[in-house]
Amino acid sequence: MTAEIELKRGLRDVYIDRTLSSFIDGDAGKLLYRGYDIHDLAEKSTFEETVYLLLYGRLPNQKELDTFDAHLRASRRIPNEVLQVVRLLKNAHPMDALRTAVSALSAFDPEVSDNSLEATLRKGVRLAAQTPTIVTAHARIRDGKEPIEPNPSLNHAANFLYMLFGQEPHRDEARLMEKDFILHAEHGINASAFAARVAASTVADLHSAIVAGISTLKGPAHGGAAEAVIKMALDIGSEDKAEEYVHRVLASKGRIMGFGHRVYRAEDPRARHLREGCMALGERKGHPEWFRILSKVEEAMQPYRSRGIYVNVDFWAGAVYYLLGIPEDIFVSIFAMGRIPGWTLQVMEQYADNVLIRPLLRYDGPMDLEYVPIRQRK
Ligand code: CMC
Repeated sequence: MTAEIELKRGLRDVYIDRTLSSFIDGDAGKLLYRGYDIHDLAEKSTFEETVYLLLYGRLPNQKELDTFDAHLRASRRIPNEVLQVVRLLKNAHPMDALRTAVSALSAFDPEVSDNSLEATLRKGVRLAAQTPTIVTAHARIRDGKEPIEPNPSLNHAANFLYMLFGQEPHRDEARLMEKDFILHAEHGINASAFAARVAASTVADLHSAIVAGISTLKGPAHGGAAEAVIKMALDIGSEDKAEEYVHRVLASKGRIMGFGHRVYRAEDPRARHLREGCMALGERKGHPEWFRILSKVEEAMQPYRSRGIYVNVDFWAGAVYYLLGIPEDIFVSIFAMGRIPGWTLQVMEQYADNVLIRPLLRYDGPMDLEYVPIRQRK
C-alpha cells in the first residue's frame, strides 16, 4: 500500500504557498525582491531602503525612509540582561550565542506575544537593528574586549563594522558590507525561511520563528558555506594548487563549498556583486591572492556547469568577510543578521493567511509487532 505514495524528499520542486516577497528564476539566474531586480538593489539601494521595501512592500519616499532609518538607528541597543547572557556565552560559537541572545531578547520585547502584522513588523525591525549589536558584543567579549556602543551617526552596515573593530570603516568597505546585507536580505522559501514559517504556522511568535530560522541557517549546506569556502582557500594556499585541489575533492566524492544550489541552475545572481567586491577589496588591501585562488577554483568547476552547478552567494562572501578582517566563525552570523528582514516577511505572510504546515512521512518500518514484557526480552 505504501509503495504507491509518491515521496517528495527534501520538498524538491514543491510549491508550498504563494508569496509577494521574492521571485527566483533558477534557470535564468534571476532574483527579484518585491518585483525589483537584485542587481538594481545591490547597486542603487541601501540596506535600510531594502528592508523598508521588503517589509512594507514598496519603496519609501525620502520622508518615509528618513523616519524608518532613524527608528532602526534608535533600536540598536540591547537590554543589559541580554548582554549578560552574551557574556555568559563567550566561549560558544557565535551563531549559538546569537540564537540564544535572540531567544533571550524575547523576554524583554514588550510585544513578544502580539502576533498582529503591525507588531510583527515592529519586532522584525527591532531584531534587524539589535542583531549586529549582539554579534559584535560577543565577538569583542570573547577577545577580552568591551562591547562598543552603537553609533547612531553611522548607517546599519558601517555601524556593524564600527562595533566590531572599534573604528569607523573605510567608505568602500562599509558599502561592500551594505551590499552583502542587501544580497542576503530575502530568498524565498529556503531551509531557514521554511523553518521560520513552520514555527509561525503554529502561531508561535516572531522571536520563536527567528530562532528556528537561525538554527536552520547554521549548517554548512545553507549559511555555513561561506566559512567553509575561506577555509578551502586557506587550505589551497596558492592559485597554482587550486585546480588539483578541486579535482582531488571531487574525485573523493566531496563537495566544493560555495557551489551548487537547490534552485539555481545558472549563476546565483548575488554572486556577481561579491565577486566584484572581493576583487576590488583584495587589491585595496594588498591581498589579491584570495580572489585569484577562488577564481581558479571557479575555473576548475566550469565543467560542472553542464550539470547546473554554478557558484552561489556564499562563495565570494567568505573571501569578502575575510578581507574585511572578520573572524571566520562569524561569517554565518552575518548571513543571519542580513536575513532578519526576509524571515520577518515570511512570518508575516504566514500569519496573514495561515495554514498549519504539517506534511506526512511514509512509514517504512515493521507493523503490528508483539509487545514483549521487559522481563521476557533477551
Ligand atoms: N560540489 C560538488 N558537487 C555538487 C555540489 C558541490 N558544491 N553541489 C551539488 N553537487 C552535486 C551532488 O554531488 C549531486 O551529484 P549526484 O547527482 O551525482 O549525486 C548533484 O550535484 C545534486 O546535488 P544535491 O545535493 O542533490 O543538490 P541539492 O539541491 O540537494 O543541494 C546544496 C544543494 C546547496 C546543498 C549543494 O549544492 C551543496 O552542498 N553545496 C555546497 C554547500 C553550499 O555552498 N551551500 C550554500 C548554498 S547557497 C546559500 C544559501 O542560500 O544557503
